Amino acid sequence: MHRIAVIPGDGTGPEQVNEGIKVLQAAANKFNFSYQLDKFPLGGEHYMETGEVLADQTLAELQNYHAIFLGAIGHPEVKPGVLEKGLLLKLRFELDLYINLRPVKLFPGVETPVKDKGPEDIDFVVVRENTEGLYSGGGGFLYKNTPYEVAIQESVNTRRGVERCVRYAFDYCREQNRGKLTLCAKTNVLTYASDLWERVFYEIGENYPGIEKDYGHVDAITMWMVKNPEWFDVIVTDNMFGDIITDLGAMIQGGMGLAAGGNLNPGRISMFEPIGGSTPKYTGQNIINPMSAIAAAAMMLDYLGEKEAASAVEKSISYVCESKLQSLSAGKMGYSTSEVGDLVAEHL
Ligand code: IPM
Ligand code: MN
Repeated sequence: MHRIAVIPGDGTGPEQVNEGIKVLQAAANKFNFSYQLDKFPLGGEHYMETGEVLADQTLAELQNYHAIFLGAIGHPEVKPGVLEKGLLLKLRFELDLYINLRPVKLFPGVETPVKDKGPEDIDFVVVRENTEGLYSGGGGFLYKNTPYEVAIQESVNTRRGVERCVRYAFDYCREQNRGKLTLCAKTNVLTYASDLWERVFYEIGENYPGIEKDYGHVDAITMWMVKNPEWFDVIVTDNMFGDIITDLGAMIQGGMGLAAGGNLNPGRISMFEPIGGSTPKYTGQNIINPMSAIAAAAMMLDYLGEKEAASAVEKSISYVCESKLQSLSAGKMGYSTSEVGDLVAEHL
């Protein structure tokens, strides 16, 4: 029995999550597994009503689950940063979800803005470190609001943190039969942080003789992701670079409508989310594309060990994108949010 905590969250999060759950249920019927779902009404509304973003007790309760299925957070009436730091980043840190796994895969029939590239060219995975780097929160101000003001934002890179991320990436290559791992860093400027990453990368890489090791500076990698996306198989990188290149990745795979991510503590509780955000302007209209939430549910199934169900859901997503949807954009799909969920569930 898989125990799943659901945080529908803000904006279109709940609408998206509903379709993910619909497909989860269809998969459970077909592949004979059972699960328990409990909803946690966290997010902007909850914060405005209670003044609390994530209570310690709620955090403790969440630890009893195998996975968290998160919709989206971000509320127009809540100051930016409050929910991001207080909920999403807090869950990543407190649950030690040290891997952010972001597949970048162009499905057949989906339009990419990259000219002359197709599904055979765009199929790679970004392994982003998820608990350190510039996200650690270290730093501060000196002489704030004076002409002499100094703002310092520290990037924390521990050997343990870098090693476990790099090792995960190599293991992932091995398990998924992906032959090449590219380190994305900035060794020409970040001569401490990137130096550590580079040394760890090649040290650990010695234990993986069958996997080709490659290196790219982050700026060059953004260029190649557009010009030669077929060069990439798996990319491992730090938190901030990973944040930036995965948004670019989402665009080349056809947009936020399909982009999903896993926040993993391998072997322990992990969290899965569509990465498109809460898109308040589309809330309640039944027009948002739920595919990214369905793709997040597929990743969650894979993580929970339901490999067959996960790949069947992925095939159904691909089928519906290719043969049914007119576009992946909200309001232009040719179907409503709930109809898209129905299509995937029916195909499954
Ligand atoms: C992501 C998001 C988050 C991040 C935000 C919402 C804090 O952009 O998951 O990529 O920066 O990590
Ligand atoms: Mn991001």
